Amino acid sequence: MNIVLIGFMGSGKTTVGKKLAAGMGYTFLDTDQYIEERAGMKISEIFSRKGEAAFRELESLALKEIAGMDGCVVSTGGGLPMREENRKLLKQIGMVIYLDAVEETLWKRLADDRSRPLLRGEDPRGKIHTLLSERAPVYGHMADHVIPVDGRQAGDIAAEIEIIVKSA
Ligand code: S3P
Repeated sequence: MNIVLIGFMGSGKTTVGKKLAAGMGYTFLDTDQYIEERAGMKISEIFSRKGEAAFRELESLALKEIAGMDGCVVSTGGGLPMREENRKLLKQIGMVIYLDAVEETLWKRLADDRSRPLLRGEDPRGKIHTLLSERAPVYGHMADHVIPVDGRQAGDIAAEIEIIVKSA
């Protein structure tokens, strides 16, 4: 049994996930970090050298490997649940928690971010708007639990998830 965190870039999956894993005695795993370690390259480098399509293949591959693990909090890249095969696998491996943030919150957190290749274009705010409109329904539909995160501390969010998991 694992706990899977999904949500948009900047929704706090990594920060919350680390706290949750520490509190529950689970192993923390981040799909982006997993991919970077195996590829020996940063995500931004994979995008620039190989392209987004290649990154998406690496993402599905990483998830297949991670799916064999147990007792993990798995923090997923924001685009990972957009593939149906990935959604199926995520549902199989654990309880899926969607960290739900409004666009304003995401923009505040991402405006100065230089690490996300998808936001490096001319209009990052517009890109967030478009991607969020496509993705939010998908996240919400597949999640076992939706946790609003706007204006909240990571520790409080992790504590709420811990209660949900323990009472399941
Ligand atoms: C992406 C989100 C990133 C990373 C990559 C693509 C996306 O992960 O996987 O830059 O498509 O939303 P985070 O959600 O952890 O930022």
